[in-house]
Amino acid sequence: MKLFDVYPLQQVSLEKAAGSFLWDSEGQRYLDMYGGHAVISIGHSHPHYIHRITEQLQQIGFYSNSIQMPLQEELAALLGEVSGKQDYQLFLCNSGAEANENALKLASFHTGRKQVVAFTGAFHGRTSLAVAATDNPSIIAPVNESGNIVFLPFNDEAALEAHFKQHGDQVAAVIIEGIQGVGGIRMASDAFLQSIRRLCDQYGAVFVADSVQCGYGRTGRFFSHDHAGVQADIYSMAKGMGNGFPIGGIIIAPHIQPKKGMLGTTFGGNHLACAAALAVLEVIRDENLLQHAADMGTYLMDALQATGALENVRGRGLMIGFDVPEQHKNLRKDLLERYRVFTGEAKPNVIRLLPSLALPKAEAGLFLSALQEALALPVVV
Ligand SMILES: Cc1ncc(COP(=O)(O)O)c(C=O)c1O
Repeated sequence: MKLFDVYPLQQVSLEKAAGSFLWDSEGQRYLDMYGGHAVISIGHSHPHYIHRITEQLQQIGFYSNSIQMPLQEELAALLGEVSGKQDYQLFLCNSGAEANENALKLASFHTGRKQVVAFTGAFHGRTSLAVAATDNPSIIAPVNESGNIVFLPFNDEAALEAHFKQHGDQVAAVIIEGIQGVGGIRMASDAFLQSIRRLCDQYGAVFVADSVQCGYGRTGRFFSHDHAGVQADIYSMAKGMGNGFPIGGIIIAPHIQPKKGMLGTTFGGNHLACAAALAVLEVIRDENLLQHAADMGTYLMDALQATGALENVRGRGLMIGFDVPEQHKNLRKDLLERYRVFTGEAKPNVIRLLPSLALPKAEAGLFLSALQEALALPVVV
């Protein structure tokens, strides 16, 4: 059987990982400044993570959501403590798309309404509602097309206000990433997030903060929306939550009430996934990784700006992007092939940095030296 060929792949296969390093099948070492799409939050193969999952596997790996789950309660308590959202309620699932799907569905159940407001440049996943709210027609299948989604221009307060004035009583949810990731590291302004909060309150709509990529401590606060001083009604999360173990979830403000059977999943919140997520939060807390991500982000962004060769260096904490000028258009390829550094991209010419929140300063330095050398290569004409 062949693989269904949907992914553009780099010519590398990895066999081992530790901290911020990866090794390929020939034993060559790579620096990971991308964390496999922002997933590696506490570093590869963290000893506490391995220990917690191994120990859990030796006890019980899985049972479905039909029994008491003290591990889920332990996870909810720790997530409340580390995120500062103690009074929220946790529902666990398996991926970012599934988290957004559940968030939007719940918003619709709660309000009895159908309309979802999303923004230009947004990426919310590939399941039916999540992809319909994603601003990329090429990945929306005809069956996913929905008259229930309205796209408004990102960071345009006047357009948002005007839409609510006309259709506010139909809006079930507004969904927004605090920093658009796939969209190219575009930050939602504080004023825009505050307007969303105000209008959702005024018209009884649900504010969904997609924190799948920008959340879980990546920006130096637990949720990037926290920087704007707003509280969303639902936060969706996944990627960094399990450091590679598939787990996602939503946390839900106390005024949204559950009903039996309203949401559900077979695998979500199983014993192994909870053990992985608990290990991640314990490391984030014990190693003070939010502060570290904030500090390392400032260090990296200052250094990137100082090269003078990159355009629009932007981001927060360890969610950083910059535009690659035309004469360095091979930069990402050079970084991988010549300097063995993994980075991410966003169309048309953005490099995205999404390393582990535990990225040591020495490894950040290795990246910066590689970048300096790559930028000094003969320019592409
Ligand atoms: C902001 C955002 N939301 C949702 C998703 C979808 O997550 P998943 O691939 O786990 O379904 C992604 C994935 O890149 C994302 O960046």
